[in-house]
Amino acid sequence: MKRPALRLVEVGPRDGLQTAGASVSTAAKIAFVDALSLSGLREIETGAFVSPKAVPEMADSAEVFAGIARRPGVIYSALVPNEKGLERALAAKAGKIAVFTAASETFNQKNIQASISESIERFKPVVAGSKAAGLPVRAYISTAFYCPFEGKIQPEAVIDVVRRLEELGVAEHSIGDTIGRASPDDVRRLLDLLLKSVPVEKIFLHFHDTYGMAVANALVAWEDYGVSGFDASTGGVGGCPYAPGATGNVAMEDLVFAFHASGGATKVDVKALQDAAKGLAAAMGRPVSSRLSKLSL
Ligand code: HMG
Ligand code: MG
Repeated sequence: MKRPALRLVEVGPRDGLQTAGASVSTAAKIAFVDALSLSGLREIETGAFVSPKAVPEMADSAEVFAGIARRPGVIYSALVPNEKGLERALAAKAGKIAVFTAASETFNQKNIQASISESIERFKPVVAGSKAAGLPVRAYISTAFYCPFEGKIQPEAVIDVVRRLEELGVAEHSIGDTIGRASPDDVRRLLDLLLKSVPVEKIFLHFHDTYGMAVANALVAWEDYGVSGFDASTGGVGGCPYAPGATGNVAMEDLVFAFHASGGATKVDVKALQDAAKGLAAAMGRPVSSRLSKLSL
């Protein structure tokens, strides 16, 4: 299998910080995004325009978007659950809109107070409004392997949601291992079926790393299936507030190191990611969890 050029999406400022507690100031979030902008990453999910009651940590996303030094060629994207979120994201000049649903009904209900069908209905005006504004739409499908409430999720359930999102006209799908439980075999079982329905270029994989299998999962998807899109969060911080037991995303610096070590070319500077992680750890007042953050710089 040809190993394609990698497309990496940094989700630390959103996924990483949405469970960080109130300790991370707006200025520290801006400094984190600015440090990431210097690393060579091309896309940074900078915040979420969700209900501040649901996720208080993201209440200052408009200020974060307003404060960052935007680097030409970098997309600063935003997570959006509904039309109100889209309005706020457009006002903040987000460069891409990310909607989010799940393959598990129970998780979706707890996360966004909607069934899967209701959420897809909700996305229709969000997708139309984003397109009218000239912005591409990413769709997250959470709990694509395991759900904290329903257990193992069958690939057919994921494919059904992906097909419905394809009908809506989203540009890409980010397939989420929300609780970081998937193994390489789970990844193979899903990709064997999924790639029959959707072009591989439209697929991103979003691995949390609770059980330490995320790097192995990403390498299998890249080497054996030609998947090139991966999400990660510098420092490996975070998790979903509505997914009990989930820890952070795979750390971007660990993932980039693994790709480079396996012959993958990226324009991302691992040292710059380590610096960004170091700054974030100082701002949080606690160490981050990436393996590379444990090395002396
Ligand atoms: P709801 O209560 O059904 O919403 O929540 P509502 O429309 O009935 O509105 C209730 C209140 O929220 C109203 O305010 C609205 O104005 C306000 P009130 O009148 O009570 O003062 N509201 C908003 N405020 C600001 N921005 C908005 C917005 N929408 C409503 N956009 C809703 C439904 C979806 C809004 C809520 O459940 C929510 O915001 N959920 C977000 C949960 C979340 O962010 N979870 C984490 C991200 S997902 C994730 O981490 C997984 C992922 O990483 C992939 C993976 O790992 O699998 C993406
Ligand atoms: Mg996530």
